[in-house]
Amino acid sequence: MTNDLPNKQLVARSFGQAAAHYDDVAILQRQTADELLDRLSLVTLQPQQILDLGAGTGRNLSLLAKRYPKAQLFALDIATAMVKHARKNHQKQVGFKRWLPNSKPVQFLTGDAEKLPLADNSMDLIYANLALQWCDPRTSFAEIQRVLRPDGLLMFTTLGPDTLHELRQSWAEVDDYPHVNLFYDMHDVGEAMMAANLAEPVLDTDRYTLTYDTAMALMKDLKILGARNVNTTRRRGLTGKQTMNNVAKAYEQFRENGVLPATYEVVYGHAWAGNKQQQQRQEDGSIAIPISKIQRRRS
Ligand SMILES: C[S@@+](CC[C@H](N)C(=O)[O-])C[C@H]1O[C@@H](n2cnc3c(N)ncnc32)[C@H](O)[C@@H]1O
Repeated sequence: MTNDLPNKQLVARSFGQAAAHYDDVAILQRQTADELLDRLSLVTLQPQQILDLGAGTGRNLSLLAKRYPKAQLFALDIATAMVKHARKNHQKQVGFKRWLPNSKPVQFLTGDAEKLPLADNSMDLIYANLALQWCDPRTSFAEIQRVLRPDGLLMFTTLGPDTLHELRQSWAEVDDYPHVNLFYDMHDVGEAMMAANLAEPVLDTDRYTLTYDTAMALMKDLKILGARNVNTTRRRGLTGKQTMNNVAKAYEQFRENGVLPATYEVVYGHAWAGNKQQQQRQEDGSIAIPISKIQRRRS
């Protein structure tokens, strides 16, 4: 697992700046969030405490609250501006209902998935939609395992390495710097889950293709989403107009039926809190994950 780890301050700043307009362009994020909720309906679970990890603008809070009306919700994000936005959005959605005697107010927290400001064994369900790709999987899954109660469940999506491969290839034709974040592959994710001692991990991938009229329109959307290039070896400074035009020209090789595709490889995963004492490492230090637990869908 050798991916360049994202610069946390930059992640927090980019998403903070994106808070106001993120929802206007978060099409894929809405689709995967809804799919995750659908998958949750297949699990019998009556969570008392739920963490929306990397909650962003808080769009999924009301859906989780509707699904689990008795649960206490926690919304956590690394970007303080996102947390403020989520709180405002939630208050608007819930309106006066939040003053009803039995309503449990959502707790809004700024924090890092790699160092959760939450007690051990405090959550029954951790829901994380498209947030963990900004983290070191070994550290974040270890934190998730620490915070989950025994029998607690983690449901998440993250991005796989094929994500935005058209944009990565177009940039590679223009210069030698990494311009698109590198994402962990499903096997690395599974290995990190096992290393964290999460139990019965199940993973699969799905591909989504968004289409754009121009490469500039795609790059503009990524900027609005806050999905900036956070590679530590990224090129610093402003990118000239000529360079951007060259990237746009290189992207034209992917045009099909009049539009430009942008591929997203979404990894869906879930796992249960594992035995906190149990050590699953093999004697040689490797970690075993049954092949039967890893599937690839519609790729
Ligand atoms: C693509 S957005 C997804 C937001 C939301 N889950 C949704 O479904 O719309 C990713 C979010 O993860 C947050 N994030 C990134 N790294 C994080 C970290 N290490 N800890 C907590 N949140 C993080 C970002 O600030 C951002 O709000």
